[in-house]
Amino acid sequence: MFIKYKFLKIIIFLLVINSIITFSEEFKIIKSKEFLTVWKNVGDVRYVSSKKDFIIIYHYGKIRTKISFIDNNIVHVQISNNNKFSEKSYAVINNNKFKDFIYSKDKDYIYLSTNTLTLKISKKNFNIEIYRGEKLISKDIEIKWNGNRFYNKKLILNNSKYYGFGEKTGDLVKNGFQMKMWNNDSYDYDKNTDPLYMSIPFFIEFNKEYCNGILFDNTYQTYFDIGYTEKDKYYFGALDGELNYYFISGNNPKEVIKSYTNLTGRINLPPKWLFGYHQSRYSYYPQKKVIELAKSFRDKNIPADAIYLDIDYMDRYKSFTIDNNKFPDFKKMIDELHNMGFKVVSIIDPGIKMKSGYNVYDSGKELNVFLKNDKEELIKEKVWPGLAVFPDFTNKTVKEWWGKQYIPLINLGIDGFWNDMNEPSILNSKSNTLPLNTLHTDFNKKSFHTKIHNVYGQEMARASLEGLNSHRPNYRNFILSRSGYAGIQKYAGVWTGDNRSNFEHLALSIPMLLNLGLSGVPISGADVGGFITSPSKELFIRWMQLGIFYPYFRNHTADNTNPQEPWAFNEETTKIIKKYINLRYKLIPYIYDYIYESSKNGIPLMRALFLEYTNDEKLYTIEDEFLFGDSLLITPVIKENTFKREVYFPKGNNWINFYTNEVYQGGKTYLINAPLDIIPIFIKENAIIPMQDIVQYIDENENNSPLYINIYGDEDTNHILYLDDGISKNYLKGVFTNIEIKKQKNKISFNIKNINYIPKNKNLYIVLKNKSVKNILINNSKLNEIKNKQEKGIGFYYKNKDTIIKLKFFIKNIEIQYF
Ligand code: GLC
Repeated sequence: MFIKYKFLKIIIFLLVINSIITFSEEFKIIKSKEFLTVWKNVGDVRYVSSKKDFIIIYHYGKIRTKISFIDNNIVHVQISNNNKFSEKSYAVINNNKFKDFIYSKDKDYIYLSTNTLTLKISKKNFNIEIYRGEKLISKDIEIKWNGNRFYNKKLILNNSKYYGFGEKTGDLVKNGFQMKMWNNDSYDYDKNTDPLYMSIPFFIEFNKEYCNGILFDNTYQTYFDIGYTEKDKYYFGALDGELNYYFISGNNPKEVIKSYTNLTGRINLPPKWLFGYHQSRYSYYPQKKVIELAKSFRDKNIPADAIYLDIDYMDRYKSFTIDNNKFPDFKKMIDELHNMGFKVVSIIDPGIKMKSGYNVYDSGKELNVFLKNDKEELIKEKVWPGLAVFPDFTNKTVKEWWGKQYIPLINLGIDGFWNDMNEPSILNSKSNTLPLNTLHTDFNKKSFHTKIHNVYGQEMARASLEGLNSHRPNYRNFILSRSGYAGIQKYAGVWTGDNRSNFEHLALSIPMLLNLGLSGVPISGADVGGFITSPSKELFIRWMQLGIFYPYFRNHTADNTNPQEPWAFNEETTKIIKKYINLRYKLIPYIYDYIYESSKNGIPLMRALFLEYTNDEKLYTIEDEFLFGDSLLITPVIKENTFKREVYFPKGNNWINFYTNEVYQGGKTYLINAPLDIIPIFIKENAIIPMQDIVQYIDENENNSPLYINIYGDEDTNHILYLDDGISKNYLKGVFTNIEIKKQKNKISFNIKNINYIPKNKNLYIVLKNKSVKNILINNSKLNEIKNKQEKGIGFYYKNKDTIIKLKFFIKNIEIQYF
C-alpha cells in the first residue's frame, strides 16, 4: 500500500515537472549541475526479448531499450520511457536492418557482436560498453530520466577530442563546451553565442587509435556537455522524446563521416555555377541597378556567376511575388543577366502575409496548409511582410502546394533559391519563434512545436527542393538554407547567418565551416566581408582571400552598409581581390573533383587538418589553417595589421609555396610572409591539381577552357578527375567522365573509368611542375618538342621551370613516361 502511494506521488511529481519543462524552460540552457539532481536511473535489465534484427530490453515501468545494427560499424540504440519506439526519422534515410550480429548473455551481461563491434551490456544498473576488437571505445556512466527529460553520460576515453555539432561558434575542438540545439535567428552573434540557426546533433569523438560518431537523433531541444561539468565525461540529453542515437565506429574520421552521410544522405551534385563567385546584398534594386551591377563585373573583367535578390524584389515582402515598381520588366532583367552569363538567386521566406487577394495566402487558406495551435486557432506572427501565417512543411500535401508556388519564378528564369528565416524566426517576440503549442504534422500524427521546431527549416528546404525537382526535373536545382537539422546536406547548402564585419568573425568562420564539414555538410559559407556594418579595406581583402577557399563563396551585406562589391575600395584593393577571384576560377576543376567526392562519400572540400593527418597530434586543435581538398594547405591571415604568420606544416610530406616554389618540411613551424596582397597557400609535395584558364563565369564558352593537370613532386600520387556538363542531371544517366590519374615514379597513367562526357575544348596540358625533362613517351611512342602552346598539334614545351605536355583529350587509357 505504502509502495503504491509512493509510486503515485512520483508519477504526479513527474507529470508536474514535465508540464513545467515543456512550456516554460525551453529557452534556458539547462545548467548541468541542476540536471544531476532528482534523476532516476533507467534501471536494471529485467527481461530481454531477442528478434532477428533487434533486441528489446525491459527495464522498470515502461522504460525499454531497443538495440539494432545498421551495419558492422553502426549501432542504433533507442531508449524510451513509454514502451514505444519511433520508427521514423527526419534525419536518417538509410535505416537498414542488419541481421549479422550475434546475441548472447551470461549471468551479468548481455553481448551483441558484429564483425567489428561488441556491445557488453550490464544487467545490473544497465549500461553499455562498446569494444572494437579488444579495445574499449565507449562506456556509459549513467542513463537517467526525469519526467520526460533524460540524459546519457559517457566516459571520455583515450583523451578523445570532440568535433562536429553542426553550426556552432567557439573553438574547433568542443572539449570543455556546453551546447544547446534549438534553431534560433541569432542576428549579430559572436564567438560565444549558442545556439545558432541550425541544429545538427552529431559529433565526432576522435583519438589517434580510432574514431566514433554519435548522431543523437532527437528533434526536441537537446543539449551537450563535453567535459564541461566533469572533465573526463560527456553527456547528451533532451527535454523530451527518445534517447535515440546511432553510434558509428571507424578507424578514422573519414570512415565515420562516410558512415554518417550514408545514414543521413549526401549532397546531390549542385550546378557547377555554384562554385563561382556570388554577389549579394540586402537588397539590390531597382532593375536598372541590378543590370548595372552585372555590367560592372563584365566591364571590369572580374569573374562572377550569380547575383542575389534579397527581400526587396518582392511586392511588400510577400513570398513568390515581384515588386513591379522596382522591377518594371523582371523577365527582361533575368534574360539580360542570363545573356551576360549571370545566374539569379532569389530569397523566399516561409511567413506568408495574411492578406486576401494574395494568391499564395488564398490558395493556402483554401487547402488548410497553415499551422494552427491545439485550440484550432491559426498561428499568426510578425515577420517582414507584417502579420503572417506559416505552412505546415512536414505535411505531404502542404509540401506539394509549396513546391507549386515556385512555378512562376522558375518560368521567369530564376536559377536558384535562398530559404531564409526558416528557424522559423519571428520578429519582435520574446521566444524568437512560433508558440510552443503550435501543432505540426509529424508523419502520421500531430506534434507540438517543441518536437518539430528544429526540423522546420530543413523541411522547408526539402519542400522547396522537391517542388523544384518536380517542376524543373533535369536541372540541378539549388537551395541555400539558413536553418537545418542533421541531413540538411541532401536538400540544401548553408550559410552561417548574420555575422559582423570584423576580424573575430573572419577567424570564427574557419572552425564553424570546418565543423559543418565534419557534420556531413560540405557546401557552406559565411557572408564574405561580413553582414552587419562595413569592413575596412584590409578586412575586406583578407576576407575575400579566405572566401575563395570557402566551399560556397558569397559576398553579402546588410541594408544599411557601405557598398561591398569587389571594387568598393580603391584600385589597388580591386586588383588584389580580382587576383584572388581569378584564382578561384582557375581552381574550379580541382574544386569540382572534390565536390564530386563529397557526393560519393560525404568528405568535405574544406577540411580540418586532422581529417587527413590523423597521427599528427599537433594538428588536432589547429583552427587557423585548413586543407582545401587534400592537396592545398590554406593559412589565412586572421588578425588585423598582421603581415606575417606562423604556419605549422602537417607531418608526413613537404609543402611547396604556391607563389615562390619554396619547400617547407612537414612537422615544422615556419614564419611566413603575408603582405596584404598574399594569403599563404601551400601545395602538398606529390600532388595532382587540375586547373583551368580564367573565365568570367563558369560556363563561359560552354566550359571551353582547356584543362591543366599540374603534377607536383617526385613521389607517387593520384587524383580522380570528374567532368560533366555541370548543369543537367544527365550525369545520373551516366553522362560523365571519370578518369583516375596515377603518377608512379616517372610514369603517369590515365585510367578511364567512364567516358561519356567529352569537354568542349579538347586541349589538355599536363604540367610537370618545376621539372625539366628531355624525353617523353606517350603509350611508348616518342613525343616531339614544340616551341610553345600556340604551335599546332601535340608535343611538349618548356615554360618557366615546368615541362608542359600538350595533348588532345583522349578516350582511351594512356600512359606517359618521362625521363
Ligand atoms: C536575414 C538574413 C540576411 C538577409 C536579411 C533580409 O537577416 O540572414 O541574409 O539579408 O534577412 O532578407
